[in-house]
Amino acid sequence: MKNLEFIYKRHSIRKYTEQEVKEEDLKAILEAAIQAPSGKHKQNWHFVIVKNKEKIERIAKLVEEKNKKIADNLGDEEWAENFKKFVKFATVFRTAPVLVLVYAGKYTPTGLKELKAIGASQEEIDELSKANPGLQGVSAAIENLMLAAGELGYGTCWMTSPNYAAKEISEYVNFNKEGYYLAAVTPLGVPAIEGKSPERKPLEEVITVIE
Ligand SMILES: Cc1cc2nc3c(=O)[nH]c(=O)nc-3n(C[C@H](O)[C@H](O)[C@H](O)COP(=O)(O)O)c2cc1C
Repeated sequence: MKNLEFIYKRHSIRKYTEQEVKEEDLKAILEAAIQAPSGKHKQNWHFVIVKNKEKIERIAKLVEEKNKKIADNLGDEEWAENFKKFVKFATVFRTAPVLVLVYAGKYTPTGLKELKAIGASQEEIDELSKANPGLQGVSAAIENLMLAAGELGYGTCWMTSPNYAAKEISEYVNFNKEGYYLAAVTPLGVPAIEGKSPERKPLEEVITVIE
């Protein structure tokens, strides 16, 4: 069996030490990220690296403030309480020394214009867009980033729950690139606790083999 340890040692890390991420490691991790494949080789990703602890804390506060604003307007106490309860999973990046904001750029799936041109049904057009190839490339880059980070002794956590505060976050870091939107964020730092992943569904449940 080949050594796939680098896959199995990646876990979502939600607590970090104060230890800095070395500049050369950060560069190596980001270089690994951009080796990912992308549709039409568009490389439609952009990484905003926040290295300032106070700014990272401010971003966590922005998520908390937006969470409260949404909860206060739900008009249902139980729903609001439940939504508020999960804010901690949207701010687990706050102890990390580095926060990576991953932006995805616009991408037109192959065949979309052509389907429109031949007057295909909206259903068929929506079905093609569902696979979201633009986001698939960016996701591959995120996974590369995480595996490289793990290999260099750092922890990460793929996060999309802060996305409800995407507008506030992007304004705060002053990032604005035509057609780009916040896809995910990940903290990056030395894990303060040993990571442990939840169990996976059995392989048989998620594969279909055609002989
Ligand atoms: C698209 C995506 C979004 C996620 N969003 C969050 C998040 O907002 N907060 C969080 O704590 N974990 C988040 N996770 C991490 C998952 O909870 C985690 O990957 C899963 O429980 C499996 O655990 P493992 O990563 O340790 O193997 C996300 C993971 C993915 C792939």
